[in-house]
Amino acid sequence: MRNWSWVFVVLLYSASIMRIGAVEVGRGQQTERISGSAGDVLEDDPVGRLKVFVYELPSKYNKKILQKDPRCLTHMFAAEIYMHRFLLSSPVRTLNAEEADWFYTPVYTTCDLTPNGLPLPFKSPRMMRSAIQLISSNWPYWNRTEGADHFFIVPHDFGACFHYQEEKAIERGILHLLQRATLVQTFGQRNHVCLKDGSITIPPYAPPQKMQAHLIPPSTPRSIFVYFRGLFYDVGNDPEGGYYARGARAAVWENFKDNPLFDISTEHPTTYYEDMQRAVFCLCPLGWAPWSPRLVEAVVFGCIPVIIADDIVLPFADAIPWEEIGMFIDEKDVPNLDTILTSIPPEVILRKQRLLANPSMKQAMLFPQPAQPGDAFHQILNGLARKLPHNKRVFLKSGNKILNWTAGPVGDLKPW
Ligand SMILES: *[C@@H]1O[C@H](CO)[C@@H](O)[C@H](O)[C@H]1NC(C)=O
Ligand SMILES: *[C@@H]1O[C@H](CO)[C@@H](O)[C@H](O)[C@H]1NC(C)=O
Repeated sequence: MRNWSWVFVVLLYSASIMRIGAVEVGRGQQTERISGSAGDVLEDDPVGRLKVFVYELPSKYNKKILQKDPRCLTHMFAAEIYMHRFLLSSPVRTLNAEEADWFYTPVYTTCDLTPNGLPLPFKSPRMMRSAIQLISSNWPYWNRTEGADHFFIVPHDFGACFHYQEEKAIERGILHLLQRATLVQTFGQRNHVCLKDGSITIPPYAPPQKMQAHLIPPSTPRSIFVYFRGLFYDVGNDPEGGYYARGARAAVWENFKDNPLFDISTEHPTTYYEDMQRAVFCLCPLGWAPWSPRLVEAVVFGCIPVIIADDIVLPFADAIPWEEIGMFIDEKDVPNLDTILTSIPPEVILRKQRLLANPSMKQAMLFPQPAQPGDAFHQILNGLARKLPHNKRVFLKSGNKILNWTAGPVGDLKPW
């Protein structure tokens, strides 16, 4: 089947090459704009631009939780753990809280996994509340701003709404005590109660060493046109269909399961990473959340991400030129995916592939150990540095209180 699809691709490409003449105008301009937006910001060095104070908490908020379940180091929300480790030895860390621009509270709220490895954040609100109570009574800095110069890593599906089901997450809203803080989260969707202004959207964690180990020579031809492995339906959680992925994944399957240009299946092969490096387009449809680790995998493996998730807010969107490297398809246009992708001029494909080959693009998607310049850790710091200096309104008049410590569901008020 793969050989056949390559024939199709070649035919399609040669057909579109004949059309290139018509779109030649303005190409030079475009290329310059791209190199501008993909360059400087990603390579910024945060050192010297901000100082971060790391609160020292009892290990029951972090290390002990991890000891109980080491799987937390490899699941897609592991950024909360690696960011803590990174900050402890980062040159931006200061031991003198008086000179800090930002305060960081290391709580591992997503490290509570079911036997199947799914993180369920039922205890997170109580744990987070307990941690904030602790820092606000032991240090003077929380009360000064009620958290407005504090940041928290909350990588769960719906961030600090702390529920795995969207309706419940929306009903809960962002944990009240975090309303003034800056949230660093994977979840990103415009006009959603679980994404507040000023949040920093980060990539999910995908294991860098494992991906590295599966690299194949970059000259390997990309003989797969469209690639996807994953669920189309989630019968267990969405028996009637239509709610999971808002039906977009089901539409991919129903329209293209027999299309030779589409290498799509629910079966996860051992050659998954290699296959992505042999593909031109990798589908990144929403699932329960708008994103999945596929986005990171596609960028790392140079496969053009085809983003199907209306209103998604992508990681580090102020630094990464997502419009230039990826394709955005409206959920309602999934039935036309074949026509849309086959009508992209080859020069546009080549330009996206060239941008994706830029190591700074890949680096920004990864949390390597040890950290490396330009990686996701550094992009988070750059994002925090760009918010400085803090507005004067951040600092409350002495004795002034805005947050309500008893707001929220009563269950959240129970001690942790
Ligand atoms: C901060 O305010 C709370 C009451 O809102 C109080 O209990 C606590 O002692 C204060 N923290 C400090 C360090 O004064
Ligand atoms: C704080 O929230 C609780 C629970 O919603 C509410 O009963 C109380 O009136 C609120 N307090 C203030 C001062 O707004």
